[in-house]
Amino acid sequence: MSVKVNEKFIKSFVSEDEISAIIPEVKNALLSVKKRDGLGADFLGWVDLPEAYDKEEFARIKVAADKIIKSCDIFVVIGIGGSYLGARAAIEFVKSPIYNNLKKDTPDIYFAGNNISTTALSELLSICEGKDICVNVISKSGTTTEPAVAFRVFKKLLVDKYGEAGARDRIFVTTDRARGTLKEFSDKAGYETFVVPDDVGGRFSVLTAVGLLPIACAGIDIDSMMAGAAKAKADFDTEDFGANQAMRYAAFRNIFERKGKTTEILVGYEPYMLMLNEWWKQLYGESEGKDKKGIFPTSVIFSTDLHSLGQYIQDGKRNIFETVVNVKNPGSKFVIPMDDANVDGLNFISGKELDYVNKTAMLATLVAHCDGGVPNIVLEVEDRSAHSFGYIVYFFELACAISGYVLGVNPFNQPGVEAYKKNMFALLGKPGFEDMKRELEKRIENM
Ligand code: PA5
Repeated sequence: MSVKVNEKFIKSFVSEDEISAIIPEVKNALLSVKKRDGLGADFLGWVDLPEAYDKEEFARIKVAADKIIKSCDIFVVIGIGGSYLGARAAIEFVKSPIYNNLKKDTPDIYFAGNNISTTALSELLSICEGKDICVNVISKSGTTTEPAVAFRVFKKLLVDKYGEAGARDRIFVTTDRARGTLKEFSDKAGYETFVVPDDVGGRFSVLTAVGLLPIACAGIDIDSMMAGAAKAKADFDTEDFGANQAMRYAAFRNIFERKGKTTEILVGYEPYMLMLNEWWKQLYGESEGKDKKGIFPTSVIFSTDLHSLGQYIQDGKRNIFETVVNVKNPGSKFVIPMDDANVDGLNFISGKELDYVNKTAMLATLVAHCDGGVPNIVLEVEDRSAHSFGYIVYFFELACAISGYVLGVNPFNQPGVEAYKKNMFALLGKPGFEDMKRELEKRIENM
């Protein structure tokens, strides 16, 4: 089993009565996911993906990845939110947060179009100078401003460098199957396209071409990743609360929410978990934060952040709980050297493995935070393999759907994301938004 909920550090915060009371709710939520009769059921395509993915497209993804690996130094992945976070999380988790600096026979991978920063775009363009480049633009709607602007820039760069025909061989588009301007444009231009299925929302799309193509280009075994997700799907098919880890995680976080612990901190003890944290934050934040409900998802990397946020977590406002992802097998070994001068007084740990010290820091922190009134759910994960990554993705996705239903929201929409977009378009002077622009400018002046 690749994810196991360890309840040792929540026991004193949760009563048997609270658990018994929530079991029927999580069970009903799981049944709603399976029977597809809950809110937003049109977006449950991700549930069967580990087995029912498009095998023909999967094979095409591998061929495209091979071609990309052979033909470029830099692979630019353009997308925002659910259209990039999963791939980036996988590359950092399975390979490294400093993947681009590693010795490797796969291209450097840079992510663009996930902000509107002049600096970020200019810096990436200068990194690309003199290098061979391929681009994967990922946008389900095809009209999201951030990736659309970046795609304009990189399309021009590729056409200027390689000509229309050369650029055609280097641009890969992941978008809606049939609708949308990006699909239409790509078909006309002759770009190879991949599909974001209609019934899979952005933040649930890692196991589609959205995640798979960039992940394969980093040399990660996507067969193994899908096998991990399939294993998770099989493991979480049971409605037995004692056995179903996704149900258990969903149950405990909702128990805490009801007790006023409305902020959840996802904790990793490895820098390679930073982007997994970011992916998780979008998954839970966008799925649950609506109708004035939801647990606010935030994250830390320890022991780094114990030296910045540790004080607050130990001793600040008591509306938080933590979910610690403990990757049991570090995958590499480092032994702390002896130092004759012993200036730091640490010779008592010389000869010990660094991971032993990291795990001891975790144990010490778990006890300290429990003592400080912060419950800690611990998710035990075997290792950082592609298989485990696929398993973790499915675990969090299913637990998120169950949790959202228990909370009483539609976990698959994101109406709130539109508010800033409308204001931005109006203020930028998009045709059709003239009245709104005038009204907004007046309001801003009087604020
Ligand atoms: O989860 C989501 O739906 C969002 O994060 C989208 O993925 C994000 O807004 C990008 O949208 P699109 O893929 O349409 O460009």
